[in-house]
Amino acid sequence: MTEAPKKLYIKTYGCQMNVYDSERMAEAMGGQGYAQTDRPEDADLILLNTCHIREKAAEKVYSELGRYKGLKAANPDLKIGVAGCVAQAEGEEILRRQPLVDLVVGPQSYHRLPELEARARGGKSAIDTEFPEEMKFDHLPARPKPKRGPTAFLTVQEGCDKFCAFCVVPYTRGAEVSRPVARVLKEAEGLVEQGVREITLLGQNVNAYHGADGADSWGLARLIRRLAEIDGLERIRFTTSHPRDMDDDLIAAHGDCEKLMPYLHLPVQSGSDRILKRMNRGHTAEEYIRLVDRIRSARPDILMSGDFIVGFPEETEEDFRATLALVEEIGYGQCYSFKYSARPGTPAAERPVVDPAKADDRLQRLQTLLTAQQRAVQDSMVGRTVGVLVEKSGRLPGQVVGKSDHLHAVHLTANLSPGDLVDVRITESAPNSLAGILV
Ligand code: 5AD
Ligand code: SF4
Repeated sequence: MTEAPKKLYIKTYGCQMNVYDSERMAEAMGGQGYAQTDRPEDADLILLNTCHIREKAAEKVYSELGRYKGLKAANPDLKIGVAGCVAQAEGEEILRRQPLVDLVVGPQSYHRLPELEARARGGKSAIDTEFPEEMKFDHLPARPKPKRGPTAFLTVQEGCDKFCAFCVVPYTRGAEVSRPVARVLKEAEGLVEQGVREITLLGQNVNAYHGADGADSWGLARLIRRLAEIDGLERIRFTTSHPRDMDDDLIAAHGDCEKLMPYLHLPVQSGSDRILKRMNRGHTAEEYIRLVDRIRSARPDILMSGDFIVGFPEETEEDFRATLALVEEIGYGQCYSFKYSARPGTPAAERPVVDPAKADDRLQRLQTLLTAQQRAVQDSMVGRTVGVLVEKSGRLPGQVVGKSDHLHAVHLTANLSPGDLVDVRITESAPNSLAGILV
């Protein structure tokens, strides 16, 4: 008789890189006989893959952990682990604050998870927040080969050396490291064999990619052009980028590489030069605007996306208006905006804060403008024919949902399956999606 597999429940917070990391952790624990479950009450091991970027995200972890008290009482064999950026930033402090936790593992140590789990089961201290010499990806098992959905994330770069004054990433994810070209290509080819047709290359500073190929070093554009040669891979995206690393070759690739999709997430954070300087962004608003002009010359229909922070220390109404002006000038198709959250250990955390009521008001004004822009760009798709990669069935019978080249969700009624790539004429624009008919 074979033993029933042990069950692993993973809850993922934060960015797409955490989504990727959670998959890889599940694969690593799969090698230890764990199957994934989506019910924490069935689990033998619960892992929270956490985010430390803003205070709210970090606090969610503790309220979630509090909920597991009953589960632990009901199942004394249950082990609970905290992974990700809260694990890295808070380390042992987590065990002090929530004794329910058995295991703490930082983002660079996932390949040591099986060993840590065994230590936790043996009642020993199981905490690893080192930045080991070896790269975790190269020590994780090769990705298994079951069939999978048509889209996948692939981490090619991790960490950041930019040290924006508000950001914890350089501390939680460490210095910038790129995976070697050959490993990325092998993983991409494996994904395509499993049915993947669209790959999103991930990195905290993905366009700073400088992967080794022997003695040579490749930039992101060269990697993208090489990936585009893989038969069966139809679409390539990448996120997140820094304006200072948008080099000429990458701009050109948006014009000449057909598989590179016309969507670019290029955060600017603020439109005020005074604030950009205090944020240590290393560029002015004007430089960003000129950069976007050049990208649009290469690929006129590119949809621009961004991130903004309002209420950064010492931001005045005038600074904020400069942000609104920059948004007007660029015309974004999609954006994320946040109220500044002071993060322990970052330079900005020491500075005088903006009145929270003023910050709330600015966030609301900015979001009103961004939502209007997003809606206008979406509405402008009506009547156009766009490529759509079908991802799953929709809610209505016969309906399928996919993503357009510009990353809009598109609903259509047609006899199609996940992985089909079709041309769709857009007929309707709803608040968060488009609808169309097969061409
Ligand atoms: N407060 C608010 N937003 C932040 N971001 C990063 N750090 C902070 C912070 N301390 C936002 C930035 C970044 C995105 C991932 O999160 O806009 O681009
Ligand atoms: Fe954080 Fe991005 Fe700035 Fe790096 S470039 S410090 S990840 S906001």
